[in-house]
Amino acid sequence: MRALQYKAYGGPEVLDWAEAPEPHAGPGQLRIAVRAASVNPIDWKALTGMLSGGEPLGGTGYLGRDAAGVVDEVGDEVTGVTVGDEVFGRGQHTQAALAVLDAWATKAPSVDWAVAAAAGVAGETSERGLRLLDVTAGDALFVDGGAGGVGAVAVQMALARGAKVIASASQANHDYLREIGATPVLYGQGLADRVRAAAGGPVDAVFDVAGKTPVEDLIGLAPEPSQVVSIANYAAGQAGARVSGGGADSHPMEALALVAELLAQNKLVLKVQTFPFDRAAEAYRISQSGHVRGKLVLVP
Ligand SMILES: NC(=O)c1ccc[n+]([C@@H]2O[C@H](COP(=O)([O-])OP(=O)(O)OC[C@H]3O[C@@H](n4cnc5c(N)ncnc54)[C@H](OP(=O)(O)O)[C@@H]3O)[C@@H](O)[C@H]2O)c1
Repeated sequence: MRALQYKAYGGPEVLDWAEAPEPHAGPGQLRIAVRAASVNPIDWKALTGMLSGGEPLGGTGYLGRDAAGVVDEVGDEVTGVTVGDEVFGRGQHTQAALAVLDAWATKAPSVDWAVAAAAGVAGETSERGLRLLDVTAGDALFVDGGAGGVGAVAVQMALARGAKVIASASQANHDYLREIGATPVLYGQGLADRVRAAAGGPVDAVFDVAGKTPVEDLIGLAPEPSQVVSIANYAAGQAGARVSGGGADSHPMEALALVAELLAQNKLVLKVQTFPFDRAAEAYRISQSGHVRGKLVLVP
């Protein structure tokens, strides 16, 4: 089979869509024939060596954390899934012809493959953030970075809970934020005042998915520091905000089941831009720019 891979850390130019050993489903896992796999910032962070702690790359590197496809192997201890089922979810090395998932949900026939692939990491992360913040009907939520992969999903999942959502983006993405139901504000200097003006006062919760705004500004918007959850600013915890990296606080199967339902009901709509696997470098360059609208997805 073919898989996206690299032999040394570097930029998108070192990516190669080439032959690789086939993975197999272990206990509690599924293997799928991949129909689409999304690009997440963690992919280029791995590719460039940002996550290596200064160690050189040992062997070949593979990429991808989510995908959608057709089940072709079912691991031991897995129930309720059979070969031929159409699923999406989270896994490792998913930017490949065959990939192993460790958390998944059934893809409704009405949901496009690329959209389902895009919803894996972004959906689980959004469910986690909103659950940690206990966002409920009538709450006002501020999402810092609302137009990107996680942000656009978090906005819509919060709306589905009955919250009012204010979200930040560059000016170019304000129409997109309105389209998905958020009140847009411009990020950067003066952000907190713009959020207060848009919310008509302080907000009940802040979900920082961009990690760019000083955490003190975000804490100033919330009723207490712990009502700020960041997935992208790992220093935010020092100021009393909560930081989530998706360990023990992650409930991936429950999260993906909810995401699947919202996708099927059209309550979660994702803007995706697709690229064939052999042009993955183009998608990686856009992701690395930090200004993605919706999601970038690779397809065979
Ligand atoms: N901890 C976890 O569990 C977890 C899980 C998933 C992702 N992450 C991390 O979360 C971050 C976001 O991921 P993603 O997939 O949503 O990325 P993405 O799709 O690349 O989106 C990035 C977004 O950030 C916005 N942005 C850029 N500069 C900003 C600023 N100064 N203030 C506010 N927003 C700004 C951009 O908006 P414009 O285009 O309008 O500029 C863009 O929409 C990444 O660092 C990723 O690694 C963490």
